Amino acid sequence: MDIDNTMITTIFYIIFFCICLWILASLVFWSIRNGISPMPTAPAAKNTLLKAIPPKMHGIVYELGSGWGSLAFPLARELRHCQVIGYENSFIPFLFSQLRHLLVPKYNLRFYRRDFYTVSLKDADLVVCYLYPKAMSKLKDKFVKELKPEAWILSNTFAIPGWEPRQVFDVEDLYNTKIYLYRLSDHI
Ligand SMILES: C[S@@+](CC[C@H](N)C(=O)[O-])C[C@H]1O[C@@H](n2cnc3c(N)ncnc32)[C@H](O)[C@@H]1O
Repeated sequence: MDIDNTMITTIFYIIFFCICLWILASLVFWSIRNGISPMPTAPAAKNTLLKAIPPKMHGIVYELGSGWGSLAFPLARELRHCQVIGYENSFIPFLFSQLRHLLVPKYNLRFYRRDFYTVSLKDADLVVCYLYPKAMSKLKDKFVKELKPEAWILSNTFAIPGWEPRQVFDVEDLYNTKIYLYRLSDHI
């Protein structure tokens, strides 16, 4: 009986350890592959970003790299008349946001496990991102090719190189974070 209990406990610990290792390996793999970890937008930046959304926004909102859903859920709450779509390719954050969505469903929110460079943005009214400088350069060409002239882009922390933003919002935090708002028609 005692041996059985010890064996069951050992097996439980081995399984638990393997799952933790797999989660860690997956997070590291996708962070290296993407060039960025799934770091969530901080609360102060999130509040500023929500205030930076142009008034009367409607239509389709894409969040490129939706991570754990920390920004996608507030976006869906704020933009009730919009369809919010989060694209994320890192498995663990994607799974987490899907589970969260199962527990707290939002009728206007969807998550897809996709590489956002491979999806079309042609019907976007607003694109939201919190990425890194190289991704902003790469996305610039995609924005010009695919976005409608009237589409808006909101970027947390990282500006689009060479583009003058319509507006820059200062986040009240220690890092002097900025939120950049662009309209495609200013750049074509
Ligand atoms: C800094 S995190 C931001 C997460 C979330 N947007 C937020 O603000 O809380 C950037 C996210 O973009 C994702 N990402 C980076 N490149 C990607 C790609 N090509 N396709 C899909 N997701 C990507 C990363 O996995 C990561 O979760």
